[in-house]
Amino acid sequence: MTLRPVPHLAVIVVAAGSGTRLNGGAPKAFVGIDERSILHHALRGVFAAPPAQVVVVVPESLRGDALTDARDAAGDRAELVTVVAGGATRQESVAAGLSALWADIETVLVHDAARALTPPAVFERVIAALDGGAVAVIPTVPVVDTIKRVDGDGRVTAAVDRSELAAAQTPQGFRRDILAAALAAADADHTDDAALVAAAGHDVLTVDGDHTSFKITTAPDLDRARALVHAASVVQPSATRTAAPVMPRVGLGTDVHGFGGDGALWLAGLEWPGETALSGHSDGDAVAHAIVDALLAAAGLGDIGTHFGTDRPEFAGAHAAAFLTHTLGLLGAAGWRVGNVSVQVQANRPRFAARRVEAERALSAALGGAPVSVSATTTDGLGFTGRTEGVAAFATALIVPA
Ligand code: CTP
Ligand code: MG
Repeated sequence: MTLRPVPHLAVIVVAAGSGTRLNGGAPKAFVGIDERSILHHALRGVFAAPPAQVVVVVPESLRGDALTDARDAAGDRAELVTVVAGGATRQESVAAGLSALWADIETVLVHDAARALTPPAVFERVIAALDGGAVAVIPTVPVVDTIKRVDGDGRVTAAVDRSELAAAQTPQGFRRDILAAALAAADADHTDDAALVAAAGHDVLTVDGDHTSFKITTAPDLDRARALVHAASVVQPSATRTAAPVMPRVGLGTDVHGFGGDGALWLAGLEWPGETALSGHSDGDAVAHAIVDALLAAAGLGDIGTHFGTDRPEFAGAHAAAFLTHTLGLLGAAGWRVGNVSVQVQANRPRFAARRVEAERALSAALGGAPVSVSATTTDGLGFTGRTEGVAAFATALIVPA
């Protein structure tokens, strides 16, 4: 989509929160994703849109750091950046941002710095809807989980119809006068600006958000952002990676581990008492690792070393479920879900026949229920598998747009 430059448009980036839930050693927006901060990544998305002014709202003590970061992200548009100190709540921080707008600004987008990976297309959709005459616009994504109402004792009191629900993201766009009036009249603290404007009686329009626009709130969210940024930087662009998944894709993965590890054998997500363990950085589960590689290859997200290398101590000794669940999250964040997986094990030991279905169930459960087929074969005494020196696994995966 090509946009004409929108005149009198400002983006307020709220980055003044403390990040209590992330607990990242610094106010959240100043925690690093790679060598750049969450704020820096968020601003790169902002500057891909055509704003007239960018107001960055940060903790008072970090105004200097924020200005350096913002100017760096702005490149040749550094003169558009204003940095102001925020307030005790998000709403107060938005108000602080509004008070710094240039006089001629007519349209405002409010964006959470914590949504560091929001793609430019989301900004474009919000701006286009405002251009079309909407006074308040928010990006949303469908709610995928089944939602329950739960009382204080943890008991389910009611189901909530998911088809009526949508998860709100940012940037949220408004006519400046409407947002300013709603803020001035606010008698309650709202967690987003659309709630404030809706409380003032205005219609709020929705446009499509994006899965990668998730809010970095807790440590696993940061982990996911880091994996996505890392994958984007190591994977060749466009040739293997699609920005918006449209077609199913397949991937191939293989893995080999030798016998000789410590403790029990873990293979295909199962523990095999009495069998010799495989060696490796994790539990040596070649079946799980081949599946991870097949899935990552299908999505163009690199390979197992990209995401589970020896620099990730939390995966030392980890079993299949941890690997597969993490991989499923990476795929989901990139807009994919698993169609099915087929894996073949070549090994003299263990004997799979009696536990094949159990292995399929364990692997499928770790992949959110996607079908997994496991087959096993020996190699007629040939090669390292024939000599019972180790096992080899070969996996193919089909993934489909989420
Ligand atoms: N925010 C802000 N000023 C505040 C509180 C929040 O500018 N007083 C911003 C945050 O920096 C963030 C966005 O609003 O970009 C969404 O808030 P949230 O994700 O809740 O961030 P924090 O409040 O920093 O995190 P936590 O609630 O875990 O402390
Ligand atoms: Mg908060």
